[in-house]
Amino acid sequence: MRQDLFRVAVVGCGVGRNHIAQGYRKHPEEFRVVALCDVDEARLTAVAEEFSIPRRTRSFDEVLRMDDIDIVDICTPAMLHFTQILAALSAGREVVCEKPLAGSLAEIDRVLAAEKAATCRVMPIFQYRFGNGVQKAQRIIELGIAGKPYLATVETAWKRTAKYYETPWRGRRETERGGILLMHAIHIHDLMTWLMGPAASVFACTATRVNPIEVEDCAVASLVMRSGALVSLAATLGSQREISRLRLCFEHVTLESALTPYSPGDDPWEIVPASPEAEARIAEALADYRPVPSRFEGQFGAYHAALTTGAALPVTLVDARSSLELATALYHSAATGAAVTLPIASDHPAYNNRPPSKA
Ligand SMILES: NC(=O)c1ccc[n+]([C@@H]2O[C@H](COP(=O)([O-])OP(=O)(O)OC[C@H]3O[C@@H](n4cnc5c(N)ncnc54)[C@H](O)[C@@H]3O)[C@@H](O)[C@H]2O)c1
Repeated sequence: MRQDLFRVAVVGCGVGRNHIAQGYRKHPEEFRVVALCDVDEARLTAVAEEFSIPRRTRSFDEVLRMDDIDIVDICTPAMLHFTQILAALSAGREVVCEKPLAGSLAEIDRVLAAEKAATCRVMPIFQYRFGNGVQKAQRIIELGIAGKPYLATVETAWKRTAKYYETPWRGRRETERGGILLMHAIHIHDLMTWLMGPAASVFACTATRVNPIEVEDCAVASLVMRSGALVSLAATLGSQREISRLRLCFEHVTLESALTPYSPGDDPWEIVPASPEAEARIAEALADYRPVPSRFEGQFGAYHAALTTGAALPVTLVDARSSLELATALYHSAATGAAVTLPIASDHPAYNNRPPSKA
């Protein structure tokens, strides 16, 4: 087997199936999924048959004992990620893990420490970053063309019915760890901070109004960013028409995503320059833009490049930590009814445990 062909074990056959179909299978020269793991025998067999994956197991420990696996891709329910990441790192495997990576900032700091001490790395999944609209917006901002950030509005309007919550780990604080802020809007909030920079303070309200669950399914928040820009977040799982939308107003340009709920990073984004000069600078910045594949295909392609060159991973634990820090601040604000200032240090009451949301 070639040095740059990585052998993968996927653990968890829900979104794990999408990692295979939309990610690894799009890069057959770069990745081979050789093992599949799920405690649910029927699901395991169905997905293994669909993709002709030879090795099947119901035991995560057995995956770690397979000497020829380079990458363990963790797609299990949220409450298992922390321990499975630590186990895979100490078994010397590269790790891919679905969001959310951990249940608290204390846990994710332990993962960061474990990665530092390990020979391998952890790549969190944030596949929404891989879309040509958001990538172009990011380039315009990174090159300083956008100028001063003024304000952003960020919407996650999705729909989840009782059927979604038939899966027992969903909707429960103990196992899902959080509701829409942690599990659904986390993607677009990550895009927002990727483009607008970190938040300095947040004030949030959460509510459970759509389904009879323990965690929140509606949330609003007002953020003051470290840059001074203002951001408004709105998220619900009770929207009959599903959309995601990100609208960013900068000094020299306004950037607005398409409404596609599960790939808001994709083109077309509306890019409205403030002046002919800004228009010319944007055109120049994008003249040699090379399109990226969307979502998992894009993230796994960039992952392979980072693995083979040793370059920084396309999404890092620091990114996952920032995302969890924002969610933690939002939950703490909703629970206390007060604004929360970031960063959240280890002596903050929300550092060790995610406080229950005010549902
Ligand atoms: N990035 C995204 O867009 C996206 C989309 C969906 C889900 N997710 C995340 O992926 C994770 C899984 O969500 P899902 O929707 O696929 O859930 P799911 O319940 O549909 O699938 C999880 C699978 O893991 C299996 N499993 C449970 N315990 C296991 C264990 N110990 N070892 C092996 N397999 C085990 C279950 O049997 C199940 O088949 C969650 O953290 C969720 O937030 C991310």
